[in-house]
Amino acid sequence: MPIQAPRGTRDILPDDINQWNYVEKEFALVCKKFGYKEIRLPVFEYTELFQRGVGDTTDVVQKEMYTFEDKGGRSITLRPEGTAGVVRSYIEHGMSSLPQPVKLFYQITAYRYEKVQKGRYREFHQFGVELLGAADPAADVEVISMLSLFFNRLGIKNLKLNLNSIGCPECRSAYNELLKSYLADKIGDMCDTCKTRYGRNPMRILDCKEELCKKKLIDAPALLDHICDDCREHFNQVTKKLDTIDIHFDIDKNIVRGLDYYTRTVFEFVSENIGTQGTVCGGGRYDGLVEACGGAPTPGIGFALGVERLLLEMNSQGIEFPIPETPDIYIGAIGEKAGPVSEKLAWQLRNNNIYCIKDIMGRSVRAQMKYADKLGVRYSLILGDNEIESNKAQLRDMKTGEVKDISLDTLIDRLVKNKG
Ligand code: HAM
Repeated sequence: MPIQAPRGTRDILPDDINQWNYVEKEFALVCKKFGYKEIRLPVFEYTELFQRGVGDTTDVVQKEMYTFEDKGGRSITLRPEGTAGVVRSYIEHGMSSLPQPVKLFYQITAYRYEKVQKGRYREFHQFGVELLGAADPAADVEVISMLSLFFNRLGIKNLKLNLNSIGCPECRSAYNELLKSYLADKIGDMCDTCKTRYGRNPMRILDCKEELCKKKLIDAPALLDHICDDCREHFNQVTKKLDTIDIHFDIDKNIVRGLDYYTRTVFEFVSENIGTQGTVCGGGRYDGLVEACGGAPTPGIGFALGVERLLLEMNSQGIEFPIPETPDIYIGAIGEKAGPVSEKLAWQLRNNNIYCIKDIMGRSVRAQMKYADKLGVRYSLILGDNEIESNKAQLRDMKTGEVKDISLDTLIDRLVKNKG
């Protein structure tokens, strides 16, 4: 039996790569225009980074990480997300001494051992940004508006922006007590994970996916109703500024996010088209994360969007992608004399920025033309003994079918002119 790719991973095949290349290029462009610089980080980090950063009571850390011991006995984890690594790098490379804020973007693979379904994989791709050093609500709004602009550029419509505030550690500790007293007579019937979280991090219980636990939580107090005055003011500023630039949002008190580092603003862009895994993008503020990872207190905010889900959404909306680049011309050759002439011609064309494919299989003219057609080249030209003798050949426009006699001496000039 041939070996197959591991469950939850997907090959991105040549027929699909154009869509990926397009969104990657557009995302990088928007990021650069907003002043972000690209950062590339290792696929694996020390496990401790995610335990400290993402939080050891989260599903991601408790259930979903690909963790192993390397040959030196160190515990290593394939990154389940990008933020913790960016923050580790920010601290390690002393980026706090750079002009603030520091704006970084990334295009990464991430790994989570999750139940595989449409839109949910074990290896998946994220586009993300992290903005470090700015505490002002204006930073939250800039990050959200950048996403909105990115979706607009791609022609995506109707993604719903849901917004919430989950406060700061101070308001959260008061809220946790409130939640605990609400759950006191219910926790006995809830799952083991909830029971552990009850003692260690009650707010995480809100993230439980067990049906029975979800039912018990229906009337739980909402954190947004219990945040402190400073957090409330921050949230009000964010909503006011979003209104000013006409970015529509809904307040969703149920967003808690699945990672522990969040403070204050959290948000998600959700699709109604692509099934249960409809959250295309998630993000928020994480003002305590740099400190938790060993750096000086530094505010931060960012997001990551799932590229598989982005493409699912674009395809479900019928969005057209640009036509992929193809070679410019196919040079076919038949007969002994044509071989070396076509080789020389191909070389000259390529040196003049005309991208040429020539026969390297010794196939019949018919097979060569069929191949040229499949390649999607704009022009084709066949060289045989007659063409070499007369120094003339027929240039075929593969799109219109038009055929023109052309002198081989003027071919390069002609194609350069056509290209311009
Ligand atoms: P997250 O919500 O865990 O946030 O993931 C962000 C996005 O990645 C999701 O909205 C989803 O589109 C995609 N995603 C997550 N898991 C999977 C999966 N198993 N299969 C396919 N797509 C998936 C973060 O990762 C944070 N680091 C975002 C962030 C950056 N917050 C602040 N800065």
